[in-house]
Amino acid sequence: MEALTQNLKSESVPLPEDITCPQCGRAVEPVFMEATQFTKAKWLRGDCNYCRAETERKRREVEFRERQKKIEEQIKAANIEKRFVDVTFENYSVNPNNQQQAKNFRTLRDFVDDFEHHLDAGTWLLLLGSYGVGKTHLATAVIKSLITKGHTAILVKLNGLFDTVKQTYAGGSALTDKELIKKVIGIDCLVLDEIDVQRNSKTDRLITFEILNGRYEKMKPTILIGNCKIDEIEDIFDGAIVDRIYEVGKILLFNWDSYRREQRFKLNKAAEV
Ligand SMILES: Nc1ncnc2c1ncn2[C@@H]1O[C@H](COP(=O)(O)OP(=O)(O)O)[C@@H](O)[C@H]1O
Ligand SMILES: [Mg+2]
Ligand SMILES: [Zn+2]
Repeated sequence: MEALTQNLKSESVPLPEDITCPQCGRAVEPVFMEATQFTKAKWLRGDCNYCRAETERKRREVEFRERQKKIEEQIKAANIEKRFVDVTFENYSVNPNNQQQAKNFRTLRDFVDDFEHHLDAGTWLLLLGSYGVGKTHLATAVIKSLITKGHTAILVKLNGLFDTVKQTYAGGSALTDKELIKKVIGIDCLVLDEIDVQRNSKTDRLITFEILNGRYEKMKPTILIGNCKIDEIEDIFDGAIVDRIYEVGKILLFNWDSYRREQRFKLNKAAEV
């Protein structure tokens, strides 16, 4: 009944001549406006569905591009060296005859896929083994994937971390050493690379202790990488840290021949035949 009276009312008001969208020229549905105390009943040009969808699409595109840009900036800030900028899980080749490699690859992929769980559990991983087998490659793939998923992640060489902390001792630094260390402790996933190459001064040991102990207490996922054996860990870190590593850490051994040496070997073989 109401609809009928509405129809009758709207029929008595002439339709506007131009009911096309001024922006795109497409026809738009008119909208009837009832008379009020101050205005007569009239037809209004309705919104253009096409243009509305177009505006929404553009807004999403801008949002997507801004998000991409932010991710790219974060990846840059994550300290990835030029040589590792393009590395991913996809361009890491797993030798089908190398079970240890396949297992490590799977563990690191799962670490990314189940990161919510690892954030909760405060998982630590220890990547140990020979040189040139892709430890830094895979750890880089881990942090890039985590950043893309919206987490904070960074890869630093242990010595680089000492230098960064020590730079705050100089006058004019934006952060104090304590503030910087607090920031490093707060990162969702910290990768400390080349833990075997260290200078071992008293200050260095103290910085390592503060950061690793802080991350242990706050249960923050941490990956330690070294070209060394398990028992050498005890020479690298103080006893208290070694205990924490053994308590929450999972060890992934990378003991096979260097990828580059293997590639070169294959090339030489190919040249022979
Ligand atoms: N299985 C692999 N597939 C593809 N590239 C690899 C593989 N293993 C190593 N590399 C490449 O070889 C080089 C050395 O690897 P890197 O990650 O630096 O070794 P590590 O940190 O174990 O010493 C890098 O350029 C890396 O991308
Ligand atoms: Mg490395
Ligand atoms: Zn339009």
